[in-house]
Amino acid sequence: MAQPPIPLTNLTLLQRGKSQSTWFLLRRLFRGYLRSHISGFVTATLFMALTASMTGAAAQIIAPITDQLGKPHSEMHMLMLGAAVMMIFFLRGVGGYFHTIIMNRIGQRIVTDVQQQMYRHLMTSDLAFFHANSSGQLISRLTNDVNVMRQAVGECMTSTLKGGLTLIFLVGVMFYQNWHLALGAFAVFPVSAYFVMRVGKRMRKLSASMQTENGNYSSLLNQTFQGIRHVKAYGMEGLEDSRVHDVTEKVFRLNVKSFHVSALMNPMAEILSGLAIATVFTYCDWQVAQGTLTTGGVYSFVMAFILAYDPMKRTSKVNAQFQAGLAAAERVFALLDVEPTIVDKPVAKSLDVTDYSVRLDDVVFRYADGTEALHHLSIEVPHGKTVAIVGPSGAGKSTIINLIPRFYDVQEGRIMIGGVDVRDITLASLRSKIALVSQETALFDDTVRANIAYGKPDATFDEIETAAVAAFADTFIRGLPQGYDTIVGEHGVKLSGGQRQRIAIARAMLRNAPILLLDEATSALDNESERAVQAALKRLQQGRTTIVVAHRLSTIVDADQIVVLERGSVVEQGAHTELLARRGVYARLYGLQAELH
Ligand SMILES: Nc1ncnc2c1ncn2[C@@H]1O[C@H](COP(=O)(O)OP(=O)(O)OP(=O)(O)O)[C@@H](O)[C@H]1O
Ligand SMILES: [Mg+2]
Repeated sequence: MAQPPIPLTNLTLLQRGKSQSTWFLLRRLFRGYLRSHISGFVTATLFMALTASMTGAAAQIIAPITDQLGKPHSEMHMLMLGAAVMMIFFLRGVGGYFHTIIMNRIGQRIVTDVQQQMYRHLMTSDLAFFHANSSGQLISRLTNDVNVMRQAVGECMTSTLKGGLTLIFLVGVMFYQNWHLALGAFAVFPVSAYFVMRVGKRMRKLSASMQTENGNYSSLLNQTFQGIRHVKAYGMEGLEDSRVHDVTEKVFRLNVKSFHVSALMNPMAEILSGLAIATVFTYCDWQVAQGTLTTGGVYSFVMAFILAYDPMKRTSKVNAQFQAGLAAAERVFALLDVEPTIVDKPVAKSLDVTDYSVRLDDVVFRYADGTEALHHLSIEVPHGKTVAIVGPSGAGKSTIINLIPRFYDVQEGRIMIGGVDVRDITLASLRSKIALVSQETALFDDTVRANIAYGKPDATFDEIETAAVAAFADTFIRGLPQGYDTIVGEHGVKLSGGQRQRIAIARAMLRNAPILLLDEATSALDNESERAVQAALKRLQQGRTTIVVAHRLSTIVDADQIVVLERGSVVEQGAHTELLARRGVYARLYGLQAELH
């Protein structure tokens, strides 16, 4: 049964691993996201082809028009040419409108799908994953990277396809008018393609570094805003300011650098096309003198060349954006590729017992970094009874609480509920039987009412109120400015510690689960609130299998069993009076605390 600890590299998103090949990323994008939009894609491409062919036609029609000028011709003929020109531009506009809106929709849809998929994936990820990655970094991937992808997908698909198609038609016109000339004009093409590729590679690297720095930036902001009280209390404003200064300066330098790289493409393109145009004119002069080319043909050719210049010039810009998009896609995929380890077994069953006893059986547990938190630990909590766990800080008390809802899996031994190994139960049914009141702040930035109903969104107001009354929270809630509709602020900042806890208790009441896990629910309270919370907890514990972790021993004297934990092992176990009589660790701890109070 023994499993090696999960290597940390599986959990931590690689800051910058080996870069994936462009083809690999494109194939994955296509298979995962584009395929389902194929019909829209084809329609948009048809409209693009219409626009592109009309651009070609616009260049082509210059030849007959120019050749008519100054020569005898019928009015009718000229009118028809005029009508044709109007038609060409009308169709070009219509095609442009439709392909733009269709492609934009597809692009937005794909990125929204990616975003939703990322969040869904994160929700199934292990707790250990969230501990290994800062929330700022994760937020940055879901926002910054997704936005870079959004721009890239929309822009690149349209520009590449449309530019490509337009080039095909224009090059067609050029070859039709004079293929010698066309070959000459395109001699510069491989040279510029080489530069575009070089610049693209550089851009991808720069963009990846930029996104990493953006992640660091979000992470920093997130941390300082969350800990703003401590930043101020310890006078660390200056230090935090200089940290943010450094990161933003880095982003600035990377931005400037990437702009320099992409701006370099412009003069390159100018010089190359200057060369091409000069060649074309010299050669045209000669061809017209020879009679192989009419003046109209020259105009038409030059028109096509000038029109082709724009999509060619844009290639470098689009390529830069494309590379940035690929770098972002790589980071997004890295997040999607982290597989959760805590998942339902294929044969997992829904928890269907009447006996909700909890048993830890010879449990060994190590955190990902190798810290052995529990060392061959066995604890039994009979159905409906309360077991209290006490012991010094770092003994492994919270760890035990974390193992029961399978936030982590044990490496050795097993945890059973009503005789069933928790790993054989579906996560959803396991967790639906557990109410947790933990050491962490547990409130969301929402109304009191929504916070109480968090584990049971369909609860009626009556049920919410009953839970609040039972948790001794109703009175203070009614005293809040908007009563049950008061917004509590992020992590409940607008409430006192005791009020926060009573709301958390009311939530657990409403959840009405047969197993109750309490982690130091009373640590932050003064005597009076503590009495209220204690009374609330006692009510909550009735008839439920309860594991309670408490630092204040006075609060757990009437637990059915008290387990004294030290460095991950049970050192003493028994009822309060038994343990006192034994005059061991517990008696000493209790004596110390009694002196303090
Ligand atoms: N996410 C984690 N990653 C690595 N080690 C951890 C993690 N959480 C806890 N530990 C380590 O595991 C051990 C037990 O921690 P635990 O949180 O269970 O202690 P505790 O008994 O609840 O302490 P306290 O009374 O201070 O809350 C400690 O040595 C701690 O450093
Ligand atoms: Mg703890």
